Amino acid sequence: MISIGKIPLSSNAIFAPMAGYSDLGARYLARLYGAGLTTSEMVSAKGLLYENAETKKLLEKTEIESPFAAQLFASSPEVIHRAVKLLPDWVDIVDINMGCPAPKIVKNGEGSALLKDPVLAGELVSAAAEGSDRPVTVKMRLGFEKGCFTADKVAKEAERAGAAAVTVHGRYREEMYSGVSDKNAIRRVRDCVSIAFFANGDVRSLKDYREMMEQTQADGVMIGRGALGNYELFAEIAGIKVERSDKENIYTQLEFLKREYPERVCVNLMKSHVCAYASGKAGVAKEIRENVHRASSFAELTSLVERYF
Ligand SMILES: Cc1cc2nc3c(=O)[nH]c(=O)nc-3n(C[C@H](O)[C@H](O)[C@H](O)COP(=O)(O)O)c2cc1C
Repeated sequence: MISIGKIPLSSNAIFAPMAGYSDLGARYLARLYGAGLTTSEMVSAKGLLYENAETKKLLEKTEIESPFAAQLFASSPEVIHRAVKLLPDWVDIVDINMGCPAPKIVKNGEGSALLKDPVLAGELVSAAAEGSDRPVTVKMRLGFEKGCFTADKVAKEAERAGAAAVTVHGRYREEMYSGVSDKNAIRRVRDCVSIAFFANGDVRSLKDYREMMEQTQADGVMIGRGALGNYELFAEIAGIKVERSDKENIYTQLEFLKREYPERVCVNLMKSHVCAYASGKAGVAKEIRENVHRASSFAELTSLVERYF
C-alpha cells in the first residue's frame, strides 16, 4: 500500500482539495467511503501568520480524517517556513498548492504561477520541510501557458528539495477546467520522479480510475469533482461496502455545515452539494437543480430533499 513519507494510506484513491466544496462534511463522507487521504481547502500561508480566524477554521478536521493534509498557498519560502510551524497538531501532511489557476492567486505569484519558476517551487518545498517534521507534498498542473510543459522540472525540484509526494492534474493553467486531463503528459511527469505519485483529473468512475492508474503508472489517483455526491466511488475503489443513502449523506453534510455557519450560508453552500447528488438522478436532475437554487431556508431545502431523494 502507498505511503506518504512514513504515513501509510489505506487506499490509493484520495480526495482532492476543492475550495468551497471539500468542506468538513464532504471530507467526512470521502473518508467514510474509504478515501485514503483528505486535504483541507487551500489556506493562505500569510493568513496563518496573521492568525486570521477564517484561515484557522479551514484547518479544522472531522474525527475520522486521519491522515489529514493541510494545503497551503504561498510564494515566499520565508512565509511558508513560518506558517508550517503554526499548523494545528492534528495536521499530518503539508501540501503546497502549485496548481490554482485563479487570477487573484496567480497575480501574487502563488498557485499555478509557481509552474513558471521551478527553482522557487523547490525553495518553497525546502522551506516547508525545514520548518516542520511532517511530510511535504506538492499539487500542480502541467504548466502555465498551454503547451509550455514545466511540471517535469517542478516535480524534480520538489523531489530534490525533500517532497514526499507529488500530484499532477493533467491540464495547463491556461486551460482552467476546459478540455481533458492529459494522461500522457501526467505519465511524463511520473517518469521523472521516484517519490509517491498521484494522477488527477476527470476520474468519475471505477473504469476511469483504472485507466488513469494504468496509463499514467501512478501510485494513486486523486479524485475531486467526480466524488461530489458520489462518495461511493471511493468505496468501489477500496473494495468496501458502505450502506448509506444519498438522503442520509445530504443530511450528514448539512449537519456539519450547521455547526459552522448561519442558516443562509448553510443553505447556499448546500445547494452545490445537492446539485452534485442530483446529477446521479436521470430525468429529474435539471428539475432538482432549478428548485434547489430557489431554496432559501432549511425548511425549503429539507422539503426538496424529502421529495427527490
Ligand atoms: C470548485 C473547485 C475548487 C478547487 N479548489 C482547489 C484547491 O483549493 N486546491 C487545489 O489544489 N485544487 C483545487 N481544485 C482543483 C482540484 O483539486 C482538482 O485538481 C481538479 O478539480 C481536477 O480534478 P477532478 O477532475 O477530479 O475534479 C479545485 C477545483 C474545483 C472544481
